[in-house]
Amino acid sequence: MTGRTPIVAGNWKMNGLKASKGEIEAIISGLGTGPAPRAEALICPPATLVAGFAEIASSSALAIGAQDCHARVSGAHTGDISAQMLADAGASSIIVGHSERRADHGESNETVRAKAAAVLGERLTAIICVGETEAERKGGKTLEVVAGQLRGSLPEGANAANTVIAYEPVWAIGTGLTPTTGDVGEVHDMIRRELENLAGGEAAGMRILYGGSVKPSNAAELMAIDNVDGALVGGASLKADDFLAILSVYR
Ligand code: 13P
Repeated sequence: MTGRTPIVAGNWKMNGLKASKGEIEAIISGLGTGPAPRAEALICPPATLVAGFAEIASSSALAIGAQDCHARVSGAHTGDISAQMLADAGASSIIVGHSERRADHGESNETVRAKAAAVLGERLTAIICVGETEAERKGGKTLEVVAGQLRGSLPEGANAANTVIAYEPVWAIGTGLTPTTGDVGEVHDMIRRELENLAGGEAAGMRILYGGSVKPSNAAELMAIDNVDGALVGGASLKADDFLAILSVYR
């Protein structure tokens, strides 16, 4: 027993309309059926749906989060959304530094660290993503790249209650490919050691999620790896049945 409560988090990315609320209702109803999972359940829909879903999920076991935020609280930043606004909308957690943000929006470690600090400033949970590209994996640079991202992106004040790390190899996202269990374990062990250097005694309680092509068929094997404290799920989180099937690993 690690004492860490696992998290199964769904990242809906740029998917979902108001009509998708049926999936949220189905997840809530599934969570209330059978033995309670020994894991936290979180769905991060697009920002447009955070407030509506948070209302539907209030007083349920499902938490609602967001996928990104601006580093500042307010101001002249057209089109951006602050952590304070997402907290106000009912988000409990915010993903920062997803590889799609790092690649599509040129987000550096400094940007990610500033965003994560903004999340902590609102007393929300930051889910900080790290992960190597295919070229970096093939070049034998995985541990070095992930450690560098972690050192560069972890904000001051990160602790076991307010910070979650998500290891998502870029080449495993949306491809159906996953690293071997040995490779996942090697990276998660390194992340735990690196967190010990960065956050001292808090490291033992920090959750480290695996993400990248997690599905009902591979979840049990991936979640059984040492230092894997849950999953960050993309495609398979869009369907309540698949999300619940992944969560059922922890029933
Ligand atoms: P997939 O589960 O679709 O591979 O996406 C993973 C991911 O990027 C979650 O943040």
